[in-house]
Amino acid sequence: MEKVVSGIRPTGNLHLGNYFGAVKSFVKMQDEYESLFFIADWHSLTTSPKPEDIQRSARVILAEYLACGIDPERAPIYVQSDVKETLELYLFLNMNMYLGELERVTTFKEKARKQPDNVNAGLLTYPTLMAADILQHRAQKVPVGKDQEQNMEMARRCARRFNHIYGVDFFPEPQNFYFNAEAVKVPGLDGSGKMGKSEGNCIYLRDDDKTIRRKVMRAVTDLGPQTPNSERPEVIENLFTFLRICSTPDAYAYFDEKWNDCSLRYGDLKKQIAEDIIKTVAPIRERIEAFSSDVDFLDRVARQGAEVARESAAATLKEVRRIIGFR
Ligand code: ADP
Ligand code: TRP
Repeated sequence: MEKVVSGIRPTGNLHLGNYFGAVKSFVKMQDEYESLFFIADWHSLTTSPKPEDIQRSARVILAEYLACGIDPERAPIYVQSDVKETLELYLFLNMNMYLGELERVTTFKEKARKQPDNVNAGLLTYPTLMAADILQHRAQKVPVGKDQEQNMEMARRCARRFNHIYGVDFFPEPQNFYFNAEAVKVPGLDGSGKMGKSEGNCIYLRDDDKTIRRKVMRAVTDLGPQTPNSERPEVIENLFTFLRICSTPDAYAYFDEKWNDCSLRYGDLKKQIAEDIIKTVAPIRERIEAFSSDVDFLDRVARQGAEVARESAAATLKEVRRIIGFR
């Protein structure tokens, strides 16, 4: 059976972008693939979080994963820092990565611009750590959003290079995976490109109904359709993207027609979107609350997940050491 692995940095609560971009794909995959999900707490060190935040955030995110429908019986969930084998592979892989190519990664350049006083080596080698996360399980498929394509290309490069240097066919080249065949980009409600924590334009899975309605009703719009069958400007197309993701095809067709014959009222459109987002979010939010209060269960899930992940990584590392020449 093919192996799937993916993770998210625990730098904040999950939002609709994370859910539709990555987590929902995980959930659909767990039946068909040997799946492992993890919480990338080492990766979050690249932006220097406080110790108390690290401790708290793993459990918070774990409850959110479970609430989204990841079933630890089928898809073990572990915390990255519980599997030390990753570090050894990270070191080995780093020996084959070059400064120039790491410096050219867009996410590195962006982070370097955003935090000019903290352009640390961890930020530079972020793609190597991500490659180690994936290659330690010899995973073939990785469900992530579109913004991770370059990191995935680096992971494939790590695999290819290792195989080439040692003349082996050991690591498969991991592929980005989108369950619905193409990457989903959940837009922001402020008219800007994407929903993201650092953009401050998120609907969180923990938001209550009132907050969701308020956020949706405040979404940026324009004067309304002026000529029949015209193309939609980006801010309006973004609202239709929400219809496509969260609503029924009938609702989409209804509002599309209203747009085309210039009778669309944005207030009605927003109400529909808000209610349909609530239909997705409300049950997840209730489950987050239920899981969050069961700390023993959360700790057990993480402990059992770590056991499975360690066993999988240890088997890979044993081979890797032998291939490199260590006994
Ligand atoms: P953020 O951008 O809020 O910091 P992360 O970078 O932690 O989110 O992303 C975690 C996962 O969620 C990644 O797989 C990423 O591709 C996906 N993701 C984040 N925002 C979106 C979005 N707006 N649309 C689609 N996928 C997204
Ligand atoms: N870089 C990913 C993100 O920002 C998180 C991540 C770390 C990851 N290691 C990974 C995702 C391995 C998939 C596989 O969202």
